[in-house]
Amino acid sequence: MAMRIPALCVGAISFALACSTFSVPGQGNQPRYLDASQPVELRVDDLLARMTLEEKISLIHADSKFSTAAIPRLGIPRRWVDDGPHGVREDVGPYSWNSAGRTDDYATWLPVLSALGSTWNPGLATAYGNVIGQEARARDKDVMLAPIVDIARTPLCGRIYEYLGEDPYLNARMGVNYIEGLQSNGVAACVKHFVGNNQESGRESINMDMDDRTLREIYLPPFEAAVKEAHVWSVMGAYSKFRGENCACNDYLINHLLKGEWKFPGFVMSDWGGTHGTREAALGGLDVEMGTLVGSEDPSAYSQFFLAQPFLDGIRTGEYPVSLLDDKVRRSLRVMIATGVFDPRPAGSLNTPQHQAVARRIAEESMVLLKNDNHALPLNLAGLKSVAVIGENAVRHNANGFFGAGVKTPYEITPLDGIKQFAGDKARVTYSAGYARDGGDANLVAEAVAAAKSADVAIIVAGLSHTRYQDDEGWDRASLSLPYGQDELIKQVVQANPRTIVVLVSGPAIELGSWLAQVPAVLQAHYSGMEGGHALARILFGEVNPSGKLTVTYPKQLSDSPAHALGTYPGTSGTLFYKEGLLVGYRWFDAKNIEPEFPFGFGLSYTTFEYSNLKLVPADGTNGIVTAQFEIKNTGKVAGAEVAQLYVHEKNPSVMRPEKELKGFKKILLQPGETRTVSIPLDLRSLAFFDPAKAGWVAEAGDYQIEIGSSSRDLRLNEPFHLDQTRVAKLSSN
Ligand code: BGC
Repeated sequence: MAMRIPALCVGAISFALACSTFSVPGQGNQPRYLDASQPVELRVDDLLARMTLEEKISLIHADSKFSTAAIPRLGIPRRWVDDGPHGVREDVGPYSWNSAGRTDDYATWLPVLSALGSTWNPGLATAYGNVIGQEARARDKDVMLAPIVDIARTPLCGRIYEYLGEDPYLNARMGVNYIEGLQSNGVAACVKHFVGNNQESGRESINMDMDDRTLREIYLPPFEAAVKEAHVWSVMGAYSKFRGENCACNDYLINHLLKGEWKFPGFVMSDWGGTHGTREAALGGLDVEMGTLVGSEDPSAYSQFFLAQPFLDGIRTGEYPVSLLDDKVRRSLRVMIATGVFDPRPAGSLNTPQHQAVARRIAEESMVLLKNDNHALPLNLAGLKSVAVIGENAVRHNANGFFGAGVKTPYEITPLDGIKQFAGDKARVTYSAGYARDGGDANLVAEAVAAAKSADVAIIVAGLSHTRYQDDEGWDRASLSLPYGQDELIKQVVQANPRTIVVLVSGPAIELGSWLAQVPAVLQAHYSGMEGGHALARILFGEVNPSGKLTVTYPKQLSDSPAHALGTYPGTSGTLFYKEGLLVGYRWFDAKNIEPEFPFGFGLSYTTFEYSNLKLVPADGTNGIVTAQFEIKNTGKVAGAEVAQLYVHEKNPSVMRPEKELKGFKKILLQPGETRTVSIPLDLRSLAFFDPAKAGWVAEAGDYQIEIGSSSRDLRLNEPFHLDQTRVAKLSSN
């Protein structure tokens, strides 16, 4: 069971504290900072006052790949941080990136974040974060470097599979729940990468140039929600620059916005090796420097970190005031105390059947049925004698990798495992690779074609892998199409057996046009965690009705996507101009009237849903303005879940606005024939745009259209809404 942490107040900001939950039996002369009954800020003051300059410095930089130093004199343990977003990473180092060679660091591998996003189920994001929090506790980690809430701006982004999607509202909703689930275990989340981090190409040096509206309306909202709603305890700065300054040491982003305007009370951590100077780090708001000196695996190198000896020297010579150091240390201590580091903490649990069940449930809700002509799916096992499974991704293990998104999982059910186990002795399941990574092999294609021809149905498990220039950190994808001749393989197999199902194991999106028309059914299965093969089989054979929806627009071709249409990718002379501004993802396709291959929010089901009776009901409460109420009926023969999406369109805006924007959604499960009323509340911010001149969010008087649909291009209901009076929500000042 997750521990509940009550919310108290630190200054003006509500901050979740563990202190009143964990009580230490009273001890007469124990230091105040060890007394769990004391307010966090008093405990912080007390501890800070006891620290020497050197001890303070030791807390604000790494002493190994994933830790900061212990201060035994004061009972401060080593602070262990770890990746990652999809499960607690295998231990490395401590001074190198090599595996630590432990046998007790296996962890639950959850479906990747692009899969979690595709569930459109914030409840599952809570469950996801909770699994990671429990496993982090069991593995003795204090800070988890997750979740990623960066926006999927280009489908070529090598880490797109680690991203929740292209829409700020969706990312915010899923990110908030993930963080709440994680932090409810007394583990700090470190939301990343602040801000941008939209491509791997040139990520360590590229300078991002975007206007204020784009920053505020597209890239910041998931971080703003993480701070203001989920009370996230730490934030990782992106590698790249924003308006010429390193994101992790960026006076505007960190001092002014994050800590000033949003009143973030936790600490800002650098990405690994993402700090480039003492002065920028000291003054630019960085609180903890992580990484390693390039090429050095010598532990003494950590004392040369910019926030180590050089900063200490600067304090001693009076270049920097001690108060600057104290603020950084205070933030670390605050998080330590708030997460219960000095108090009894929950022990956590690792690799439990419950965690594996969460992994399977998320996988089942994440897979997106892109095409299903003539009910090609689900397959009826009773009517099948043989199934030809084709494609390397049917047998490939995707959990572990060299970078932070990998997990050393105790097991991984591959698609072939899942299909074989499901079929049992009811159908013969054959496997052929179909292609080889090292180039075309005509024999492999011929074998796959022969297998498909002699089987009742062919299932091609195609896609990408965590290989350089595919879904991998450090490099963007080389292209939007499938590698290794898979397009040709699919064409030949479907010609041999028209009953061919294509399953895509990959991040979003893939260019499918060369074979899509010939294939009756396509399922986007993501990298779906340790239980992925079971989830896939249950969907293919109809035990689970697919309910995932796309979180990224699938373009017909790369040049239809904004960053590519405008030629801004991968940047010019070291600068990445966000020329498309607000028109990211579906906003661009709407504005330019481009037909996507599959739109944002799209996903089929084995049943059908009917939408009716939209009413806009005035809302009570302070921020609410109106609640959209409507009915959804399951008009098919099987139970299914639908993600109803609410988009807002302003009719005659005084400034350029996207055609429509997602401002609400709800996933509901309906039995055959069942009708339910769905309510989605809207607040003023749902109508507002950011006005730099007014330094605030403006919901302008005028006419709006509230649109409800099954995808961004399948809007079923709409109702006008009129706002009488312009309202401006000013940004809070420093
Ligand atoms: C990544 C981070 C990750 C860190 C530590 C960096 O390369 O950008 O997301 O947390 O490494 O592994």
